[in-house]
Amino acid sequence: MVIPNAQVIWKSTGTIYTLGKVEEIQPRTDEDWLNVEQAATVLTEAGNLLMMEGRAKDTGPWMERARALREAGASLHQAAKARDVAAVFERGGHLFDACQGCHFAYRYEKDPNIIRSH
Ligand code: HEC
Repeated sequence: MVIPNAQVIWKSTGTIYTLGKVEEIQPRTDEDWLNVEQAATVLTEAGNLLMMEGRAKDTGPWMERARALREAGASLHQAAKARDVAAVFERGGHLFDACQGCHFAYRYEKDPNIIRSH
């Protein structure tokens, strides 16, 4: 659920600079926007699912990390509803922070070769 929907968000906005050309990536049609809204909803619910008994790794910091994913998803949904390209771009960054916040605490812990943020 998480990876393909995060990709939809991250690929939906941006700027591609090539020699002599600047291309602005953004959702344009209602269908494009609906795709972003749906991806945001799935990510919001993925945050909820990660809080379920048997999935949550503890009852403290894990829950905060899962809530951060839920909140990133919900704020992206609002931005997509508002058709706000800049907000989708910026909140896509918050989404990435929510992923990595949990990964640095719980995913990479057994791998000493991973570069840590702190
Ligand atoms: C609440 C914690 C948490 C959040 C939030 C989270 N992840 Fe993860 N993620 C994990 C953990 C823990 C693992 C390692 C699972 C394992 O090795 O069994 C993992 C593994 C992964 C993997 C590797 C899967 C594999 O098959 O090895 C990818 C890719 C990934 N996450 C992407 C994401 C993305 C993208 C987001 C945000 C949109 C995200 N994750 C948000 C906890 C989280």
